[in-house]
Amino acid sequence: MDASLTDPAASARGAQLANDFTVSLDADRRMYREDIAGSIAHARMLARQGIIDQPAADSIVGGLRQIETEIATGEFTWKRELEDIHMNVESRLFELIGETAGRLHTGRSRNDQVATDSRLYTARASTAAVQAVRSLQRALLQQAAGHAATVMPGYTHLQRGQPALLAHHLLAYFEMFDRDAVRFAAARAAADVLPLGSGGMSGVPYQLDRESVAAELGFSRISANSMDAVSDRDYMLDFLYSSAACMMHMSRLAEELTIWSSDEFGFVRMSERFTSGSSIMPQKRNPDFAELVRGKTGRVYGSLTSLLTTMKGLPLTYNRDMQEDKPPLFDAADTVLACLDAAAGMVGSAAFAADRMRKAVDESAALATDYADYLVQKGVPFRRAHVVVTQLTRLAQQSGRQLGDLSPDELRQASEHFGQEAPRISVESSITARDLPGGTAPRRVRQALQDAYRRIWIAHTAGEW
Ligand code: ARG
Repeated sequence: MDASLTDPAASARGAQLANDFTVSLDADRRMYREDIAGSIAHARMLARQGIIDQPAADSIVGGLRQIETEIATGEFTWKRELEDIHMNVESRLFELIGETAGRLHTGRSRNDQVATDSRLYTARASTAAVQAVRSLQRALLQQAAGHAATVMPGYTHLQRGQPALLAHHLLAYFEMFDRDAVRFAAARAAADVLPLGSGGMSGVPYQLDRESVAAELGFSRISANSMDAVSDRDYMLDFLYSSAACMMHMSRLAEELTIWSSDEFGFVRMSERFTSGSSIMPQKRNPDFAELVRGKTGRVYGSLTSLLTTMKGLPLTYNRDMQEDKPPLFDAADTVLACLDAAAGMVGSAAFAADRMRKAVDESAALATDYADYLVQKGVPFRRAHVVVTQLTRLAQQSGRQLGDLSPDELRQASEHFGQEAPRISVESSITARDLPGGTAPRRVRQALQDAYRRIWIAHTAGEW
């Protein structure tokens, strides 16, 4: 027989192991404010409904306030053997006010309690994420406004494609993060439902006033079905997906800052606050922050996958599996908020090298499309014009020239639609020609900047930053 079954020391170790396995305190203690706020609202309502008497409620509320202070100041003694935040608070309440503490849990279960706490937390994290996204957008907007006339080569397949304004490129990120802000706001709305009153799963046999508890805690709605309420974690998944999408956008931005700050590109110089030297190669300025933003994206995807997998196939209603929800939620919230701060700082302090970008456009065949469009204006079908300009580009490349260096004769040999003089095609004419909503023409980009300022201002009046 296994000695640990009989040896008392071994079985004490077994008990310790069992507790280590089931404990969630290490993660959920960070929801202590939410837990105590929920308990205070519940206790007050119990008294209003005559379910407990007022002196009992007063003493419960007083005790809970003291516990909140103890935790905030670090005086609280945490007991891992009590499993979670809920039991730690309740047990301390017994020490402080005695048997009356036992009245708090009337008409409540840890199942609707933990759902309430984590909804409050998710709502708060979503609000913080919206704010952080808005500051990143402001940093992008500021840089875009300063580069409304800076020309860069726009890329497809990481090959120089067509000239574009740097402001247009930066505003593309503004749009991505605008969608992220909308998603985080939607995650907050999803979390904005009060589960208390659902009890263990089927409701409770007391006339609770759920609406007043919701109002006191700042929820705008109460849950419609007690079984759903204790087993729903969709709001966390909404937050996690919003975080994953936002990280994906930030990792693209981080990747561009990384390659743009290389010697090969030289399009941007990152502030020393966001770079570090190499321990062996003295000349280096490594874009560590950008790399870490890119790298941390994987963690957040992992959190989303983790919770989706935890929830998959769970029978109604609450299952202990669901305790695994909080570590990925907290880790994703910490990560996305830290990355948003870093990204806003990096963008705000970056120095874009307009001269290098201009040189890169001038040295490229980025005007090829404009030559094709010139022929289209002369009546040539676009596909045909494309073939002609492909030939011309090859001719120019073979002789180490740009399209603009080809003589009118050479052009006319490729197509009789070219005139006596070479077409006047320049980086400026290329950009100015893209004059439609959403295009890179300076006029359109100035409008886009104004529109972006208007939208960020609306977000401000809505209290988002
Ligand atoms: N520690 C638990 C969690 O995080 C709290 C709810 C436990 N409920 C229960 N019936 N054991 O999910």
